[in-house]
Parts: sequence; structure tokens; C-alpha cells
Amino acid sequence: MDQDFILTHLGEHREKYFQAVAPPIVQSSNFAFPELNIFREAFQDELASHLYTRGNNPTVAILREKVAALEKAEDALIFGSGSAAISAAVVSQVQAGDHIVCVEAPYSWTTKLLTQFLGRFGVTHTFVDGCDLAAIEAAIRPETKVLYLESPLSITMQLQDLRACAQLAKKHDLISIIDNSHCSPIYQNPIEMGIDIVLHSATKYLNGHSDVVAGVVCSTKAIIKQIFDIEYMTLGAIISPNDASLMIRGLRTLPLRLQRSNDSAAKIVEWMRQHPAIEKIYHPFSSDFPQYELAQRQMRGNGGLFSVELKAEKIEQVEDVFHRLKRFLFAVSWGGYESLVMPFCAFHNIPDRDAPPYSWRLIRFYIGLENPDWLIEDLEQALQILE
Ligand SMILES: Cc1ncc(COP(=O)(O)O)c(C=O)c1O
Repeated sequence: MDQDFILTHLGEHREKYFQAVAPPIVQSSNFAFPELNIFREAFQDELASHLYTRGNNPTVAILREKVAALEKAEDALIFGSGSAAISAAVVSQVQAGDHIVCVEAPYSWTTKLLTQFLGRFGVTHTFVDGCDLAAIEAAIRPETKVLYLESPLSITMQLQDLRACAQLAKKHDLISIIDNSHCSPIYQNPIEMGIDIVLHSATKYLNGHSDVVAGVVCSTKAIIKQIFDIEYMTLGAIISPNDASLMIRGLRTLPLRLQRSNDSAAKIVEWMRQHPAIEKIYHPFSSDFPQYELAQRQMRGNGGLFSVELKAEKIEQVEDVFHRLKRFLFAVSWGGYESLVMPFCAFHNIPDRDAPPYSWRLIRFYIGLENPDWLIEDLEQALQILE
């Protein structure tokens, strides 16, 4: 389906609401029925009818249709956060005694879901190096039900070979799940490569304005119905109609925003490659990235995220660089209009806490929609102290 059609028209039945160009926010918890028979039918298929907003809401339904089409999926569900979407999808595929093979170092709350939540219910897991297909296969046991991926990983940017992983999952009768937040559906469509369930933190690119927390699960109609009937309706971690409307607005500019972030990040990375204060760059679309060819094969772009290691001898030097940056915000998350830095030195030297597995020299950058030359000026003056 044409991307322009999806973003401008799909799901928008304007004849039902006065030909309004922007869809209405149907801010109603419940829906009334003119007849008993229609009420009865709605109970039989809550996902297809309008009964109660924890199940199906007309504003949210427009968003579902657009997001599913962008991911080339049959259907989608929208959650109140990416973490809720991840939890619901994973929980839906396992029961006590089952095992999950998961790529090493996924998003931190995914780690917590496996290590501290599912363990309590008798579901075990093994973390594996996602770059090593043989290691992934070796970790599969008779009781393994799920292969969980996140590609690229959002700090070291390592990829998994999605076509090969999907084949492996099929061979061993596993459900393959991927967190596709890094690429968004604009730059990677895992379902086309054989992956079963695609997840997003819609807080990132899909909404894109740093004002909504939301999540997405995309899959076949059958899997979505299965998740809807149990996890979606019981956990109730839904998006509000108001936030769904903001997300529909955000989606209108998704390809433009991605293109801008992607191109600006590439320009800044190119500038950094020549800079004497930069030790190493983690950016899948740089030709010296170890998995550059795989990135070219399965991604159409990288977007605004990359990490760098500074050539610094002391942690204080990295702190100084960071304090001199004036045009980047210091914040978690990414995918909005604003450029961000996340220096890993912030997680070092914390009393009574183990140091993270990442060097204090590492800084993750997210490049937003500002002029890249304006950002380079800021980087130039901040990095000067390391020269
Ligand atoms: C890669 C990735 N996946 C999932 C999430 C969780 O999404 P949310 O914060 O919307 O719950 C995040 C949040 O930072 C993330 O970076």
C-alpha cells in the first residue's frame, strides 16, 4: 500500500464525521446501542465493534490501521507505552516451564521483564550474542517458545540478521519477536523478512514530538486477536483517545522527520570521523561499521541514533565536554524533534551501584530536526578541550 495513502487517508472515514479533515477525538469510555441484537453482537467480537474504550475506540482504531499498514502487518494494537507492548507480546507467547532466547543487552526494561518478572512465573531465558547465529541456535532448547530480537540495539547499534533469525525460528517452531523502535517502519519492515511480531516504543519516532508515551504490537490478525482477548483486555495498558490523536498527527510527518534525522546524523558522523577527539563511532550506515553490509541489506536508513567513544584519559574530561554542550538536551529517550545526548559517565561513580557494562567514554547521540551545521558548531566548541 502506498505510504502517502496510509499517512493521509487510510482509516479516515471522513463521511462519518462532517468531512472533517482531522479525525475527531472520540473521548468516550463507552458506547450505547440502539438494539439488543447489536449489543449482543458487540460482545461476541469486541475488537471489531465499539463497546468500551479499553477494547476498541474509533480514534485509536484509525491509528491501529495506519501503523499496521506501515509495518506491512495484518493488524496492530496500540498500548500506553512501549514497555506495555513488549510485555503483552512476550507474555502472550509463553507459559510456566517455557524458555525464551533473547538477544544480549536489549532495552533495560525488556531485560527486567525476563530476569525479574517472567522468572517469577516459571519462564526462563538465555541471553545470546545476536551477531552469532550459531550461538542463537545453540541456545534453543526443547522448551524454547520465543526468539526475542532488537535490531539495531540502541547503544552499541549491533544488528541481528533478521532473515536468518526468522528462518531459525521457523525451523525450531518459535515465535520471533522484534523491537523495531530504532528503525521505525520507514527504515525496516521485519514482517517482510519473516518475523512474526513487531514491537515499537511509539514514544520515539512514531509519535515523534516528545509529548506522548505509547507502544505498538504488529502481527497477523490471529496473533493480534489472541493478544487482544487476554493481555490487552486484562492488563488494560491502553492509549487514551487524546494521545492517539496526537500520534495520528505525529505520523503525518514520520517519513520527513526520519529523513531529516537520518541525513543530519550521517553528516555529523562524517564530521566526527575526521575529529581527533573521537576514538570510535557506532553507526550502522558508516562504511567501517562491522555489520555495514547487513545494515544495507535489511535497513533502508539508520535514523538519528549513534554512539561515540571519546579519546579521553579521565572521566572528568568527558564530563567537561558534556557540560560545554549547549544545543543538545541531556535526556533519555529519542525520536523527537530535539537533539539529545546520553553520556554513560552519568552511570559511573554512583555509590552502592555497579558500573554499567558501557565505558564512561561512551556518549549516545540522537540527532533531531535542527540544522546539523548548528549542532556541529556546538560539538566543535565542546570537543575542543580534548584536542
Ligand atoms: C529500544 C527501546 N524499546 C522500548 C522502549 C520502551 O518504550 P516506552 O518508554 O515507550 O515504554 C524504549 C524506551 O526508551 C527503547 O529505547
